[in-house]
Amino acid sequence: MAVVTIPSGTRQFTAEESRAFCGQLEAGEILYFPVTPVPLTPEDVSFLLGQQQADSSLHKNIAYKPNIDRLSGFDAKTASPEAVERLHGIMRGYSQSVVGFLVDFLAPYQSAWRLDYASFRPLEEEGRDLPQRRRNDLLHTDAFPTRPTHGARILRFFNNIHPTRTRDWIVSDPFATTVRQFVPQEIAPRPGSPFSRFGKAAGRAVGLGAAIPSLKRSPYDDFMMRFHNFLKENSRFQADCPRYPFQFPPGSSWMVYTDTVPHAVLAGQYALEQTFLVPPQVMVRPEISPLRILERLVHAPLEA
Ligand SMILES: [Fe+2]
Repeated sequence: MAVVTIPSGTRQFTAEESRAFCGQLEAGEILYFPVTPVPLTPEDVSFLLGQQQADSSLHKNIAYKPNIDRLSGFDAKTASPEAVERLHGIMRGYSQSVVGFLVDFLAPYQSAWRLDYASFRPLEEEGRDLPQRRRNDLLHTDAFPTRPTHGARILRFFNNIHPTRTRDWIVSDPFATTVRQFVPQEIAPRPGSPFSRFGKAAGRAVGLGAAIPSLKRSPYDDFMMRFHNFLKENSRFQADCPRYPFQFPPGSSWMVYTDTVPHAVLAGQYALEQTFLVPPQVMVRPEISPLRILERLVHAPLEA
């Protein structure tokens, strides 16, 4: 398990450097920027830090969907239109800044990545009272309950914008090492099964009621969702697996494939994040993608 530190200073990256960064990410390493390459203005940071006060009406987890330029997650009944517009503009600018940086930094990906949501996470992570499968402080790999990726990988870029506190993570060994401990004895992909469909129960679990459309998941998505739950519910793994702590300082950024690096967030407040979905055809080391690792383990195709 390694953290690759990227020194500060804007410069152009060579094609070889960009390929190396992609390869390091795909192997389960964290790329860490002690000084973020996508800083917000002090005024925008002050605005965001003000959103957790007791009387704030914008205090929930905020999601921004770049492809349709839509902001959600705020309390529309009490938030002022001016505050929502300001927050919308900050999130739009943050998303565009991250994309602008990574177009060059991760050049092999930019022709094919799918831009997913950006989020603002204003809540204190320490001591949150959440159901087990939604807890961030248990080691897990990410999977989307409502947005199947069909083999594309979940790449996340983070900013710690807290003025003084670190954001405290624990990570464990990457996918290839972790998954082999459990597959196929304790949990296995279901390569021949028909597509899973989201029913009313799944819709309620993510707060969408029964109105959620029937989305199809591939056998790969089905396994990744079950593996997320399996790790969080496995007390032996939580207690005994290798644990590597990292404390990301104020003003730093980091980037990691969170679908394959088991991670937990123990403490910290005020983070920004932009997610990308990276399809297998642009990976520089597709043979170590979780899709290919799983297919080799079960000797069957899992993508669909
Ligand atoms: Fe996560």
